Amino acid sequence: MSETSVFTRSRTPPPLAVKAAGAWITDAEGKQYLDAAGGAIASPIGHGDPAIAAAMAAQAETLEWVHASAFTTGPVEEYAAAVAGLVPMDDARVYPVSGGSEAIETALKMARAYHLARGEADRSIVIARGSSYHGNTRGALDVSGRDPLRRPYEPWLGQTMRVPTVSEYRCPNPDHPNGCAIFHAERLEEAIAQAGPDRIAAFVAEPIGGATSGAAVPPAGYWEEVVRVCRRHGVLIVADEVMTGFGRTGEWFGSDHFGLRPDLLVSAKGASSGYWPLGLAIADGSVHSAIEEGGGLIHGFTWSHHPVGAVVGLAVLQRIIEMRLVDRARTQGDKLLGCLQMALSGNALVGDVRGLGLLICVELVRDRDTKQPYPRSARITEQVLERALELGLLLYPSTGTVDGTDGDLLLIGPPLTLVDDEIDLIVDRLVAALSGMG
Ligand SMILES: Cc1ncc(COP(=O)(O)O)c(C=O)c1O
Repeated sequence: MSETSVFTRSRTPPPLAVKAAGAWITDAEGKQYLDAAGGAIASPIGHGDPAIAAAMAAQAETLEWVHASAFTTGPVEEYAAAVAGLVPMDDARVYPVSGGSEAIETALKMARAYHLARGEADRSIVIARGSSYHGNTRGALDVSGRDPLRRPYEPWLGQTMRVPTVSEYRCPNPDHPNGCAIFHAERLEEAIAQAGPDRIAAFVAEPIGGATSGAAVPPAGYWEEVVRVCRRHGVLIVADEVMTGFGRTGEWFGSDHFGLRPDLLVSAKGASSGYWPLGLAIADGSVHSAIEEGGGLIHGFTWSHHPVGAVVGLAVLQRIIEMRLVDRARTQGDKLLGCLQMALSGNALVGDVRGLGLLICVELVRDRDTKQPYPRSARITEQVLERALELGLLLYPSTGTVDGTDGDLLLIGPPLTLVDDEIDLIVDRLVAALSGMG
């Protein structure tokens, strides 16, 4: 008889979490963990905020849920208006769902519905980048460039066209660092030409790389060039801001760093900071109007447009604004990145420390000069993670990131409320976790 009836995510039994506050999680033994990962880079306001719990309870007592095909609600209207005012889009329309993968699925259908409505039925192909992650449902996984997650399900996948990974550390441009933006724009142009320009529905990408490319900030001019190519060929731009949205990188959205105005924007994680399973698929007003004129979006989930989720979203937004967490992501992120770069500069295991705001990545390598990764069999990420856990530090791992098998990343994305003492603790504990490894 097993000790649990839960179909667990981890292969070793995880500790039993019993409470959490701010950046700290306590287990049943009373051990405290510094949540430097924000779960999965998902918690801008930190754990245990009583105002969010109170808002949820009050809404659940008044109107816990109604089906969105029959009713709208005050919280959903108010939340959509608040989000529409923040995203870099005109007259945005917000479709709330239950997480990032659902939001990506929704945005892909919006892109398809847009082209159908405009009489361009041949536009069905989606282009995405090499190292990328857009979710784990079948459609979202097909768009994702993350081989370890795709491999078991390959027979179900294969509809997405791929352009090279965007990574300044492992740049595929032979002339790097010269002309990288143009290099990527040319590869996109080639992919479009190869498929036939009137067959492409959308280009989907994270404005700043998440877990797979490891907080990879694109080269200067990248988004300007990509936008030019997409606009020239009528290809919709879907910005996947599941990880980068709601202040994580020091702007409200990753797109804001580049003046990017996507046609569709997807967000999740930071939208609800973990207090409710919430994702958002957001359409620019012109995309929404075209879909409506074409007969509307054929799509839906039972729990979409949830009023409790909307109340949580609003309360989280309020917290982000009143605590100035977007600015804080920038200032604390700069500090943490600087401290990590300094502390790890002589570490033989560390190839690169990069990021923007409080989305930071430490890339582990076997050889710093050649950037050769450890073989997967070394399980270096797992070893570091285990030692960090012992030391009371939670990190967000990603493996197989160089060639689909090898490649080791440690992502750091704590709550944006992070204080200076916690920065010191993250650095000290990470240095300790890495010491003697390799
Ligand atoms: C960029 C990006 N897109 C999509 C997803 C999928 O979101 P979810 O896990 O909420 O389904 C993630 C999750 O990590 C992500 O980082």
